[in-house]
Amino acid sequence: MKILSYQCHLLLLLSSTVLCVSTLEEELSNTIFDNFLEPLNDLFHRKDANKTYAKFSLRKPSQPEEDVCYIVPNEPDSLSNCAFNSTAKTFLVIHGWTVIGLFESWVAKLVAALYERERDANVIVVDWLDVAQNHYVVAAQHTQKVGQEIGRFIDWIEETTNVPLENVHLIGYSLGAHVAGFAGSHTTNKVGRITGLDPAGPDFEGVHARRRLSPDDANFVDVLHTFTRGSLGFSIGIQQPVGHVDIYPNGGSFQPGCNLRAALEKIANFGILAMNDAIKCEHERSIHLFIDSLLNEQDASKAYSCGSNDMFNRGMCLSCRKNRCNTVGYDVTKVRKPRSVKMFTKTRSSMPFRVYHYQLKIHVSSKMNRTEMEPSLSVSLYGTNGEAENLQLNGDERIAANKTHSFLLVTEKDLGDLLMLTFRWEESSSWTAASLLKKVSSWWSGDSAGADVRVQKIRMRVGETQKKMVFCLKDPETASLAQEVTFVKCKDDWRRLSKR
Ligand SMILES: *[C@@H]1O[C@H](CO)[C@@H](O)[C@H](O)[C@H]1NC(C)=O
Ligand SMILES: *[C@@H]1O[C@H](CO)[C@@H](O)[C@H](O)[C@H]1NC(C)=O
Ligand SMILES: *[C@@H]1O[C@H](CO)[C@@H](O)[C@H](O)[C@H]1NC(C)=O
Ligand SMILES: *[C@@H]1O[C@H](CO)[C@@H](O)[C@H](O)[C@H]1NC(C)=O
Repeated sequence: MKILSYQCHLLLLLSSTVLCVSTLEEELSNTIFDNFLEPLNDLFHRKDANKTYAKFSLRKPSQPEEDVCYIVPNEPDSLSNCAFNSTAKTFLVIHGWTVIGLFESWVAKLVAALYERERDANVIVVDWLDVAQNHYVVAAQHTQKVGQEIGRFIDWIEETTNVPLENVHLIGYSLGAHVAGFAGSHTTNKVGRITGLDPAGPDFEGVHARRRLSPDDANFVDVLHTFTRGSLGFSIGIQQPVGHVDIYPNGGSFQPGCNLRAALEKIANFGILAMNDAIKCEHERSIHLFIDSLLNEQDASKAYSCGSNDMFNRGMCLSCRKNRCNTVGYDVTKVRKPRSVKMFTKTRSSMPFRVYHYQLKIHVSSKMNRTEMEPSLSVSLYGTNGEAENLQLNGDERIAANKTHSFLLVTEKDLGDLLMLTFRWEESSSWTAASLLKKVSSWWSGDSAGADVRVQKIRMRVGETQKKMVFCLKDPETASLAQEVTFVKCKDDWRRLSKR
């Protein structure tokens, strides 16, 4: 039953249409599930050796949603008829799996955004809908053939027009990301760039690099992972890094605004039918992050290299030294290291997605170990351009004495230079009011006998500006029962305070 519902999710996720229309598990197992696992072989074993899988529509900036001119391989006239500009950049937009056999609405949005940024470009939409609308397994099996055909198309364009392949950029979504990879691996010379937008996971996770999108497929391969939450080894978006730079916005899962949790609750009530939108929202978020990067160049999101999402969530990876940070989306800096670089970022729930990342480092000094402390803290930041109030500090670990604790905070707006911050204690349901007050008092000021817990300074690093600063307790004699404590900026650079 578990496996059954995963398969069904997959059908929903990778397409815009609901295929699992029944809530009856039995019915599903008799129909969709069986078909899903059995490729429809006869469909593709036609004798026609000249069968083509892909069409190439050069779209116009004035009609980003219309297919008005097709470039036909081996027909050079079609290039001039479509006004192909051989000195401009060329983008190939490659869609993913589909049930309805039509382009989804993001295609026109991405085309329009590409033209918005690169006015003279050739934006070619690759139409492989005929294959892509088959059962997922069948479509996945044919990504290589489709890619091969696109590779031949690129070779032909290069021979015919002398376009430098460095100017060719393939952008593939979901299954289309692997199609782009196969296209790149089949061209005679390497294309400049492939962008993988949440490359599909099923049938590609863990396979050899030659059988999926990989860094070998272009001079530069960048990837956005937005739906990598998996169970039983099954994830809609591929979890492993498959490019030179792999960015996992919000850890690659639970995209803000997609409301997956609410959707899961709905499923309990309304059946699997309710799953569609939220999951599609997360998978497709990769595309909208890329569109955002084209349209909002000035508000580009930054991503930070980090060993794990957990460390990132504690603010430990906001450095930009030695290429450790990069720009999300179109303006990514081409960094080619032998191993894929995993990067992380937080986002807003809608465009522009960029947030500001802050690391807070708090050193707690105490004579006694107070490992019982599990404070629930919120912070307000005050800067020259505005303020952000009541941001939760999330830390899983307990507060230990004589230890520096690190937290990540994000704000949606640029606060300018930070001048002041305040801490507030949040009531915790597990504590009685009396014990809470006791902890509050001992935590901050050590009013009672033996209580000595102190936070003298807070160090802060801002990811987006790379500024570092130190905040000191505004009033060292802060009232013992204060639930709010204020710190003011006291140094611009924390390095001067720390040991060299
Ligand atoms: C296949 O292509 C070749 C060469 O392009 C052509 O001569 C042949 O007639 C085509 N066959 C079919 C069935 O269209
Ligand atoms: C072709 O592209 C180049 C470079 O982007 C541009 O300078 C030129 O004006 C374009 N030509 C036409 C006919 O649009
Ligand atoms: C923390 O450090 C101070 C000063 O170095 C020391 O007196 C105190 O005992 C330490 N506390 C713990 C719990 O180790
Ligand atoms: C404080 O607690 C930590 C972790 O529980 C322990 O490693 C350390 O030895 C303790 N220090 C003192 C002075 O009790």
